Amino acid sequence: MEDKDMCWCGSGKPYDECHKHIDEKIEMYRKRGCEVPPRSLIKTPAQIEKIRESAKINTAVLDHVAKHIHEGMSTEEIDVLVSEFTKDNGAICAPYQYQGYPKSVCTSINEEVCHGIPSRIKKLQNGDIVNVDVSTILDGYFSDASRMFCIGEVSPEKQKLVDVTKECLKIGIEAAKPWGFVGDIGEAISKYAHQHGYSVVRELGGHGIGIEFHEDPFISHIGKKGTGMLLVPGMIFTIEPMINTGGANVVVDRYNGWTIYTADGKPSAQVEHMILITEEGSEILTY
Ligand code: MF3
Ligand code: CO
Repeated sequence: MEDKDMCWCGSGKPYDECHKHIDEKIEMYRKRGCEVPPRSLIKTPAQIEKIRESAKINTAVLDHVAKHIHEGMSTEEIDVLVSEFTKDNGAICAPYQYQGYPKSVCTSINEEVCHGIPSRIKKLQNGDIVNVDVSTILDGYFSDASRMFCIGEVSPEKQKLVDVTKECLKIGIEAAKPWGFVGDIGEAISKYAHQHGYSVVRELGGHGIGIEFHEDPFISHIGKKGTGMLLVPGMIFTIEPMINTGGANVVVDRYNGWTIYTADGKPSAQVEHMILITEEGSEILTY
């Protein structure tokens, strides 16, 4: 691409005033042997705006759940809240029929790590901690975030797990910087979790998102600083640590094939944001 050609990102600016310096820096890292993102993972300004709008609806759905969630409610009722609110806002629930997933949202209680399936017979009880994981498609663009809710009075042990998990996400987001690496995020999260005596789920992680539900890179919540894919402005991905009070091992529900539980039956917590890597640092799209 010539300097005065319009940039490939569609910004309308000349290449040398837009992505040229980013492309050159990526090329320098690639020559040094680093794993670098292909251009398909670097979102254009127009794509970022569309994904941002999708994320705004996703946040509104979570706010709607936060307003209405209560003790005694079934997780099926959460599913109805999510699907109706999403539809009323002109969007689609991404989980519905995704690889055969039967519901519109994931609701994971206590020892359920993730992908809990809403059900009429599962009612929220005093002392439960529940993760509600919402994913939205607006105009073909994807967003994804989850929050923890404490039902009634939860034990100090569960409360601490939820607090540390939220801190893990915050620390993970702070570790995600342009020209850093995916491994920086996992190292920061796992160090903090381990300091508190918790373990980190290894099999599932964050992911690129926007054009598809799950894109590269895989964001492990354990990792080593300076390893993995280079982080470049324009990348969008989720960070969604799953933190266990007991051991790190998990099992899959043998009947529904979806729900992940802790192997030892001890509680687990998860929170998720979607972030955009910028030239200055990062931006949370799901606030
Ligand atoms: N929201 C989950 C994630 O964070 C994905 C759920 S897939 C589903 O990646 F099919 F279970 F909804
Ligand atoms: Co996700």
